[in-house]
Amino acid sequence: MGEPGTYEGGKAESADGTYSATVLDNIREPRNAGSMANADGHAMITGPCGDTMSVWLRVRDGLITDASFWTDGCGTTIAAGSMATELARGRKVAQALSTSQQEILDALEGLPEDRVHCALLAANTLRAAVRDYLNHRNEPWKRAYRKGGLS
Ligand code: FES
Repeated sequence: MGEPGTYEGGKAESADGTYSATVLDNIREPRNAGSMANADGHAMITGPCGDTMSVWLRVRDGLITDASFWTDGCGTTIAAGSMATELARGRKVAQALSTSQQEILDALEGLPEDRVHCALLAANTLRAAVRDYLNHRNEPWKRAYRKGGLS
């Protein structure tokens, strides 16, 4: 996966021209794109199609105060990561832990059938980042070791 930076706006082509206005908006102007320094939770998942997504979370007092993502996937994957992180921001950790593929699809006003798996990748990566936070919140030293490549 390439280095997180700033998307210049993903390609918005659709084989059958059925992207919703919300999908097109999130492809052209992705929200929360890029990595996050010293994140409280992070996950990176490669889906069966070979596309990879990362999600980073900042958590304060049980609330997700910031979320960001990066992907090497196509435009709809960018839109799904953008929407997943928008949904996560301001949510309680427990609520974010149950973010579903359908919820992301609904917020995007749907995706073409051959692209619904992009929302699944985003939901899975977001939930994994929340679990990463939960796994390390009481033992932050483990994260320090992991960053150092010791575990
Ligand atoms: Fe595979 Fe979007 S095309 S995640």
